[in-house]
Amino acid sequence: MDVEDIEIQLFVQAMRLRHGHDFSEYAPASLKRRVQQLVRTHESGTVVRLVDRILHEEGFLPRVIEGLSVPVSEMFRDPAVFRSLRDKVLPVLASYPEINIWQAGCAHGQEVYSLAILLEEAGLYERSRIYATDFNDAALAVAAEGIYATREARVWSRNYIEAGGSHSFSDYYSARYDFIKLDQRLRRNVTFLNHNLVTDEVFCEAHLILCRNVLIYFSNALQDRTLGLFRDSLVRGGFLCLGTRENIDFSPAASCFTHIDGALRIYQLGGSGAKALKK
Ligand SMILES: C[S@@+](CC[C@H](N)C(=O)[O-])C[C@H]1O[C@@H](n2cnc3c(N)ncnc32)[C@H](O)[C@@H]1O
Repeated sequence: MDVEDIEIQLFVQAMRLRHGHDFSEYAPASLKRRVQQLVRTHESGTVVRLVDRILHEEGFLPRVIEGLSVPVSEMFRDPAVFRSLRDKVLPVLASYPEINIWQAGCAHGQEVYSLAILLEEAGLYERSRIYATDFNDAALAVAAEGIYATREARVWSRNYIEAGGSHSFSDYYSARYDFIKLDQRLRRNVTFLNHNLVTDEVFCEAHLILCRNVLIYFSNALQDRTLGLFRDSLVRGGFLCLGTRENIDFSPAASCFTHIDGALRIYQLGGSGAKALKK
């Protein structure tokens, strides 16, 4: 076995045994790239020296988690997905007196605020609660602030229009120098929480779960576990939205869901397409 691969195994063991963070079921190639990047960022030279710091250095863990997390996102990323949520999912959610939404792997919060805008424009936000979770506390802190670089706003504005937005995107933020600050009213029904999809359990009964571009970092076994967690967290008839490069079709959980918009990875628990439903 390659020496660096042995070191990566030591890294995984150290994270699990010392801190309870289990990366053993992350996709090996991307995990290796992230660990190599950590070695460069912290000028450790080797993975083993990084492991030494993980084991012994107080306060080093959050920096490792930050390096392993890839909190890249956009508002209304893949606008067709948000248009489909607006046109096909929100009208169904409108029949519930209270709407719980779990946004798992929320990164810097761009999707959280996109959802809040969709709900606001559909007149549903007052009775909605968005639980926005991630395992990276630093990302959650950025998300809670809702401050982003001005240069991002142009793309996001285009995404918003393509997603069916009928206002001006600039109605939702104030611009200061190189930054935009999203309207704080958008976060009035958002709860930001640390939740690890590998080790933590169900924590709410959701009508919609959005977890996009997170499963791509997981092995098939961990994807199955996570999809099982989502199935168990949804009310019957609740919706699941994954990233456009992710899929439930090869997981045992698939038999519990109906495709609402297969290409855009929007599914509904139960319904006519579900062959089995263990709820
Ligand atoms: C590429 S971002 C996706 C952001 C957003 N959902 C999107 O699609 O634009 C992946 C996020 O998943 C989070 N993540 C990775 N592993 C996780 C885990 N085990 N539990 C919770 N969040 C995790 C990372 O911290 C990161 O913020």
